Amino acid sequence: AVPSLADTLGRPLRDLRISVTDRCNFRCVYCMPKEVFGRDHAFLPRAELLTFEEIVRLARIAVRHGVEKVRLTGGEPLLRKNLPALVAALAELRTPTGAALDIALTTNGSLLERMAPALADAGLQRVTVSLDSLDDATFMAMNDVTFPVATVLRGIDAAVAAGLGPVKLNMVVKRGHNDHDVVAMARHFKGTPMVLRFIEYMDVGATNGWRMDQVVPSAEIVARLQAELPLEPVAAHAPGETAVRYRYRDGGGEIGVISSVTGAFCHACSRARISTDGKLFTCLFASGGTDLRALLRDGGPDSRLEAALAGIWRARTDRYSEQRAGATGRPRPDGRVEMSYIGG
Ligand code: GTP
Ligand code: 5AD
Ligand code: SF4
Ligand code: SF4
Repeated sequence: AVPSLADTLGRPLRDLRISVTDRCNFRCVYCMPKEVFGRDHAFLPRAELLTFEEIVRLARIAVRHGVEKVRLTGGEPLLRKNLPALVAALAELRTPTGAALDIALTTNGSLLERMAPALADAGLQRVTVSLDSLDDATFMAMNDVTFPVATVLRGIDAAVAAGLGPVKLNMVVKRGHNDHDVVAMARHFKGTPMVLRFIEYMDVGATNGWRMDQVVPSAEIVARLQAELPLEPVAAHAPGETAVRYRYRDGGGEIGVISSVTGAFCHACSRARISTDGKLFTCLFASGGTDLRALLRDGGPDSRLEAALAGIWRARTDRYSEQRAGATGRPRPDGRVEMSYIGG
């Protein structure tokens, strides 16, 4: 039977997002601004990272409590050595009903051309590639490491060719930076099976200097698209989904908008996050997590980890985005963790 773990708001645990490295070869201005993540930035030393064995053990326990989806994130997950071996080990896990896990990866695409075949062979089912513009000047201004668009596009093609489709694309929209590319991005991927999602720039972490006037509300994105490419809504696939979906009226495929600022989706949020060093976070905006690595490393049995996980989830009250929307100021807890560490 499917376990009945639920938090204080009745939300089950379904998705586990695992950050496999806090490092990245990009310095996206909304995520790892150079002024903070400079040359001398101290990333986690190797011994602090969960090993693949530890990650799989945690995932196995989480699966017993209802997790059906695992997403590998970072930082840039493809920088983690041997990542296909982790995917292969996760692909062997089974849910209580005997189903395989849905295993996905969110990547910046820079190393995807080379890695896609091995990831697919290992059992990866889906990838989501971040791409903020099709124009090199704009893209380079966002990734801040002069990384060219063409390499990412080749990575996307390689993912499709390897059978990692339908590939999703994430565009974080920041007003005055790349919002002029919204329609061009839509046109580029229209008519393909790829699903482009426009993401509202979030106030995650404490270093990106977020301001509300830099957020382009999803309603505005949809209106700008509608003016040129008629759309109609599509029903949600699953409760608590991040994206609200639309399709082109002429049959040109689908897009999505992720409205974490103007349309919080906490009410059915079934996502837990494991940071690179093995802390469990029950919200993207949490200021603290629970150290599961200590329990993984002290020789104790699985039952203790299970009890810890279940206890934390049952006590969970998080609904940060909804609270922010209802507050006049931002309910910003101090010392919030960075997304590159906790996992997007
Ligand atoms: P699928 O549902 O499998 O398509 O993936 P996803 O949308 O959950 O994952 P993805 O990594 O592509 O994330 C898309 C955007 O949604 C990113 O900007 C994430 O940071 C954001 N996001 C994902 N989960 C949450 C969440 O629980 N809360 C908030 N506020 N944002 C989230
Ligand atoms: N706001 C919205 N999305 C963000 N991402 C990273 N930082 C932010 C932010 N501040 C996106 C990445 C990636 C996904 C996991 O999260 O571009 O696609
Ligand atoms: Fe790296 Fe992704 Fe953050 Fe950009 S958004 S700095 S690619 S982890
Ligand atoms: Fe879930 Fe927290 Fe995001 Fe709300 S803000 S959807 S509770 S992770």
